[in-house]
Amino acid sequence: MQLLKWHGQLILLNFLMFMSWRPCRGLNVPSYDSNYRANPTRRSAVFAQPSSYYDQYAAAGPKPLTADQRRAKLTALSNPDFYFPDDPEADLAEANEPEPALERQRARPAPAAGSFSYNEKDKNGPSHWYRVDARCGGRYQSPILLNTSSALLVNRKRPLRLDGQTNLPQTILLQNDGHSAKFTYNWRTGADRPVLRGGPLKTKYLFDQFHFHWGVNSTVGSEHVYDYQRYPMEIHLVFYNGLYESFAAAREQVDGIAVVGLFYEIYDHAVDEQLNTWTRFLRNVVEPNSQHTIEFIDTFPLYEVIGDVEWPYFSYEGSLTTPPCLETVTWIVATKPLLVTEKEMKQFRRLQSPTGLMVNNYRPVQKLNHRRVFLY
Ligand SMILES: *[C@@H]1O[C@H](CO)[C@@H](O)[C@H](O)[C@H]1NC(C)=O
Ligand SMILES: *[C@@H]1O[C@H](CO)[C@@H](O)[C@H](O)[C@H]1NC(C)=O
Ligand SMILES: [Zn+2]
Repeated sequence: MQLLKWHGQLILLNFLMFMSWRPCRGLNVPSYDSNYRANPTRRSAVFAQPSSYYDQYAAAGPKPLTADQRRAKLTALSNPDFYFPDDPEADLAEANEPEPALERQRARPAPAAGSFSYNEKDKNGPSHWYRVDARCGGRYQSPILLNTSSALLVNRKRPLRLDGQTNLPQTILLQNDGHSAKFTYNWRTGADRPVLRGGPLKTKYLFDQFHFHWGVNSTVGSEHVYDYQRYPMEIHLVFYNGLYESFAAAREQVDGIAVVGLFYEIYDHAVDEQLNTWTRFLRNVVEPNSQHTIEFIDTFPLYEVIGDVEWPYFSYEGSLTTPPCLETVTWIVATKPLLVTEKEMKQFRRLQSPTGLMVNNYRPVQKLNHRRVFLY
């Protein structure tokens, strides 16, 4: 794995040197018809001035935690929810021990091949995912704890850009895949497909799909934990490296995937307000393994889901957060949460998985194992 990574980086280095004559274009803020949404600024939470944000940390260095943060940290660390996988070797040894005869005679429903559960009590729960796919027991897994105070500040940033964010697809396929609600865009032409570039990314990454992770109530739900806080929901926008032909081909490559993660925070000022009108489609995929095609007339651009890409963000090298847990993901996790109403969250919490309500579909945080986390 390490060797492969080095090899990949050497190739990239060559590629970059070759490409370096290309002029660097400025930040391209997508133009957007304001009729799409009455007030696009309303959809995201208030955040400190971006210009002063970096200076503050650069000048002061890591800041001591406030009393509130310390309390949140202590709660977080004593929370059984912050689970770290056991040593897979030890676990395997235990698994190989013969079971008592009585236990063996009782018929247990065998989990379907490749199936996994988010419930720690299940045989195929998160700490046993490495049995579903050995790669889930790897050293560079996601999600992780993201801490402002321990992140490495990147001073010379290339802007992160998402081009084509206002493009409309031909249709959108919405799927309940038993683990999440997934929106896959069907583009009229390849040129319409949104492209992510800049920031930590060395090449162009093409948009594939987005899906969500959420909780049974609004105290849990997100996969990443940002400064000891778990948010009610996290969206993952999945992109694959344009050097490869498809997502399936790219996901096996060291530099194959980029995932943009954004947290959601509850907006509770006006009960009847709709912030994410696209959540209305969820009622069409309540049953596990069901799907629904959103016709052109009802489609919506990425911009309507995540707004402008101009937040400070964490970046680190990690994995897919579901089996096969491939360690080929460059993570980009925004520090500025999106907004969602409790009513909209209910649409998610009504979805069904094969084993009951589809809630708490987030993986416990994984060990960092000496990885570096950057703050852009
Ligand atoms: C965040 O802090 C926790 C607890 O102090 C630590 O275990 C974890 O590795 C830190 N995460 C990062 C990304 O530094
Ligand atoms: C929310 O869910 C969590 C996790 O399942 C649970 O521990 C907690 O008691 C719940 N809180 C409320 C207010 O229902
Ligand atoms: Zn995900």
